[in-house]
Amino acid sequence: MLTFEKALVLGASSGIGEAIALELARGGASVALAARRLAELERVAAAIGLLGRGTARAYAHDVRSWDEAPELFERICADLGSLDLVVYAAGVMPEIAESEYDFPKDRQMVEVNLLGAMAWFNLAGARFEAQRSGTLIGISSVAGERGRRGNPGYGTTKAALTAYLESLRNRLSRYGVNVVTIKPGFVDTAMTRGKKGLVGMISADRAAKRTLALARRGSSASGFVPGGWALVAGVVRTIPSFVFRRLNI
Ligand SMILES: NC(=O)c1ccc[n+]([C@@H]2O[C@H](COP(=O)([O-])OP(=O)(O)OC[C@H]3O[C@@H](n4cnc5c(N)ncnc54)[C@H](OP(=O)(O)O)[C@@H]3O)[C@@H](O)[C@H]2O)c1
Repeated sequence: MLTFEKALVLGASSGIGEAIALELARGGASVALAARRLAELERVAAAIGLLGRGTARAYAHDVRSWDEAPELFERICADLGSLDLVVYAAGVMPEIAESEYDFPKDRQMVEVNLLGAMAWFNLAGARFEAQRSGTLIGISSVAGERGRRGNPGYGTTKAALTAYLESLRNRLSRYGVNVVTIKPGFVDTAMTRGKKGLVGMISADRAAKRTLALARRGSSASGFVPGGWALVAGVVRTIPSFVFRRLNI
């Protein structure tokens, strides 16, 4: 089982990223917290301070500012002293109405959910390949398993992120780097608050614990959170397209 001592969490100011940062700190890790809202990151850092385990430092960053990423990555590595885990939990899912076709919303999802992950995983992947160790965790989604009609842009970013992470895994596992794809179902966070009909909702805390349990195996895996979604996804993938388009899922 892997232990994580020096970690960077992007999207640590709320939800799943926040819960992962707290869980890492409970395990004694030093955690760099990144997202746009500095006040929220400082709230999470203060909560980690109260745990009496682990340490945290906040870094305000918009993942769409790709040009800032290389310098910030070096600064975070220098501040931590070393790095053994990068978690990309930043993500957005704006409301899309039934007959809405909105390019600015699609662009924001592609930039935050996909391009930001590529910017940061390229930096971390190169570092981990050189050091012959390290873990990358990407938070994808069950929404990337099929092209659902509700939010085409969101599902597309998650399908692409899943494929990108598989490529990274195939590229980096030979160097001892552990690349983990997490596909949550419904998690109780700001992203899902107020939405109706979300079955099997779990807490961010539970999602974080399962995510880190999968990652600690060190076997470069892809996993559903909670695990029961593997069965649902397996069934959904077998539904023929002409049937799938008639279903309200
Ligand atoms: N909740 C679910 O049911 C669910 C299910 C499957 C997958 N997911 C995925 O899980 C991940 C975490 O989502 P969540 O549910 O925890 O939602 P959340 O509570 O809304 O958290 C989203 C995080 O992304 C950060 N973020 C958004 N835009 C950013 C930007 N431009 N630059 C930097 N950080 C940015 C936010 O921080 P700032 O606003 O401070 O920047 C926040 O920390 C997302 O990728 C989401 O797609 C969620």
